[in-house]
Amino acid sequence: MIALISSASSAAYTKAVKPILFKQKPDAVHERLLYVGSQLQRSQVIRGLVRGAWAYENSAVLSQEVLGLRFRNPIGLSAGFDKNFELPPILKSVGFGFMEGGSLTSQPCKGNPKPWFYRLPKTKSIVVYAGLANQGVAKIISRVKSYHPSTFINFPLNISVAKTNSPATANETDAIADYVDSLLQIQKAAVGDIITLNISCPNAYGGEPFTTPASLDRLLQKVDGVGMQQPVFIKVPADLAWADFDKLLAVAATHQVAGITISNLAKDRGQVKLMDPLPETIKGGLSGKPTWELSNNLIRQTYKKYHQRFVIIGVGGVFSAEDAYLKIKLGATLVELITGMIFEGPQLVGQINQGLVALLKRDGYQSISEAIGTEV
Ligand SMILES: Cc1cc2nc3c(=O)[nH]c(=O)nc-3n(C[C@H](O)[C@H](O)[C@H](O)COP(=O)(O)O)c2cc1C
Repeated sequence: MIALISSASSAAYTKAVKPILFKQKPDAVHERLLYVGSQLQRSQVIRGLVRGAWAYENSAVLSQEVLGLRFRNPIGLSAGFDKNFELPPILKSVGFGFMEGGSLTSQPCKGNPKPWFYRLPKTKSIVVYAGLANQGVAKIISRVKSYHPSTFINFPLNISVAKTNSPATANETDAIADYVDSLLQIQKAAVGDIITLNISCPNAYGGEPFTTPASLDRLLQKVDGVGMQQPVFIKVPADLAWADFDKLLAVAATHQVAGITISNLAKDRGQVKLMDPLPETIKGGLSGKPTWELSNNLIRQTYKKYHQRFVIIGVGGVFSAEDAYLKIKLGATLVELITGMIFEGPQLVGQINQGLVALLKRDGYQSISEAIGTEV
């Protein structure tokens, strides 16, 4: 039954809804989706209908215990879609196994001048230039606390923390203090199940200061000192050569870092096979398919070298169950996505989970955890 509803939703999304949405400016569509989603999720009936239509449950095969947290399935929403944590109830109903909200920062931030988003339909990508717009950690914490506590049962909340996009955090000491301020507030409020340090926002003032080994080491020393209860992940850039990337991992391995989220947007347009015109005037990093190979290569090499040391969240260019499955076989324990859902529709999440069960059965696995890293 769910397969029927899902394929009808899929056809309705790609044939009717998407053509209308894709005619409108992406920034306006994103704003409207946030508004409509936050209104709809107030109704328990609507959440139930969404769950019934789209979510796919098969905990015998798909659930995992990771770092002491229960994930009912491995598919999560990646950071950047729900920057202010406005949609957890409806995202859970859609069928995600977890979500990464944010990136949030210590101070509220308006972000870069709009437009923030530019679609590349044939390339299956979005150019993102938001510049860490968010309402700031204090307001976001009170919103997270306002949800019914059952929202985050079987739906771990991953909080993405970045440094405030402002000239005031341009030097390293201030930047570290900015991260630490967010962490202390999160710690005091006891919210969130995972904390992800986003060190790879390509569109922020001062660039990516913590993507050199020495500066990352200094940041992580201070983060260790905070002593977060939750497991800490770092989210890394897509474009680094393995040798440079490995130096960051070697530093992370000496700190209280439980996992690596691989990866953020692709910055280097020279490495991307563009299928659409992309004017020079459009600034920002590329999501979706341009990140696919980059993130897969880094996931494979990270798993090969570090194996159990880090839990890997694989992100970048996941549009189908086969895509998610490959990331898992390359070493990802969990998978996140955004662009796939924007291009294919929200029913994609349930379809991926259902497809994963079929792929695992085909290959003789009883559960998702047996498949992790099998192609490395
Ligand atoms: C609209 C949009 C906004 C994003 N904002 C953030 C962000 O605030 N923090 C972050 O760590 N990554 C951000 N990203 C990157 C995504 O989390 C993800 O790493 C990247 O898009 C690759 O995944 P995808 O191909 O499934 O979209 C953003 C991506 C998109 C499409």
